[in-house]
Amino acid sequence: YPENYRQMVDAHELLRKFYHHLLVNTDEGQPALEYLLKRGFSKESIDKFQIGYALPSWEFVTGFLQKKGYSAEHMEKAGLIIKRDRDGTFFDRFRDRVMFPILDHQGNTIAFSGRALGDDEPKYLNSPETPIFNKSKILYNFSKARSSIRKHQHAILFEGFADVIAADRSGVENGVATMGTSLTGEHVSILKKNVQNITICYDSDKAGIEAAYRAAVLLNDAGCTVKVAMMPSGMDPDDYIRKYGEEKFRNEVIGSSSTFMSFKIQYFRRGKNLQNEGDRLQYIEEVLKEISRLDKAVEKDLYLRQLADEFSLSLDALKQQANQSQDNGKGQP
Ligand code: UTP
Ligand code: MN
Ligand code: MN
Ligand code: MN
Ligand code: MN
Repeated sequence: YPENYRQMVDAHELLRKFYHHLLVNTDEGQPALEYLLKRGFSKESIDKFQIGYALPSWEFVTGFLQKKGYSAEHMEKAGLIIKRDRDGTFFDRFRDRVMFPILDHQGNTIAFSGRALGDDEPKYLNSPETPIFNKSKILYNFSKARSSIRKHQHAILFEGFADVIAADRSGVENGVATMGTSLTGEHVSILKKNVQNITICYDSDKAGIEAAYRAAVLLNDAGCTVKVAMMPSGMDPDDYIRKYGEEKFRNEVIGSSSTFMSFKIQYFRRGKNLQNEGDRLQYIEEVLKEISRLDKAVEKDLYLRQLADEFSLSLDALKQQANQSQDNGKGQP
């Protein structure tokens, strides 16, 4: 463990409880609580995920931690307070934000993310990288979701806090999130150790779809069975659940997710006009290349037939070209 690990984690645990208390029991926390309830967070979720509120103060946490005997230098290293260059005094990092505790995979609070109540930037302010928090190794909600993930051999991968929490409220308890960053090799190996089937349920906007593609490639390469769930354009899982309800989310988003191959087919279509000959040829080649990579003959046949039907092409010609791209692919990494 890093030096002062226990002290840093203890301070986070203490603040988690205090922020939560401020949110649910005090007048100061009332607007933040109303914000959350209006967004569809339930009281149960607020308790389960220990959501809290940081006061709009520059020195509340600084003073609170000092009174509890924590050294300011260590608390600065832990990312909770910030040192002023000017005179070496300290101030609170998180002010007037809804606080999401981030737990390590054993369930210890090791970081926070604070959401602005309005349009302040950044939308989510995160703890920096610290001796106890390495974002590329942490999946949000993994400690709570682990038993469900292992039991069902199925995990759902989301982008953010609100998505995991809304899904949990809908009875989808095997959700984890990368918290906006791209999925790392470390995340992949944690998942791989625990679960075979992974459904990626990122936001259905441009950034989310691109990120889903990259995550799907990484997970597939690691040997996981990948599916990708999609929502109407521009929506994220939390939006979807609020608009269409929990049952539709379970059945029509998670339950109807695409296989990796069929997601790739949709992905290659994006931004192309298939009426245009050049676009059409490029699309067919991209799909053929993916088909040639499949190792099951039955799957190959299925997708080749789909492609032949869709563009009124001869199945033989497609088969021939698929075999060619397979040969061309040989010897490549
Ligand atoms: P999104 O921009 O999709 O936000 O970022 P969201 O989760 O839908 O947020 P709401 O619903 O408006 O509250 C996805 C995730 O990326 C991280 C957060 O973890 C967020 O949940 N993120 C986003 C940041 O860390 N900082 C930001 O400023 C924005
Ligand atoms: Mn409580
Ligand atoms: Mn997003
Ligand atoms: Mn989102
Ligand atoms: Mn959202």
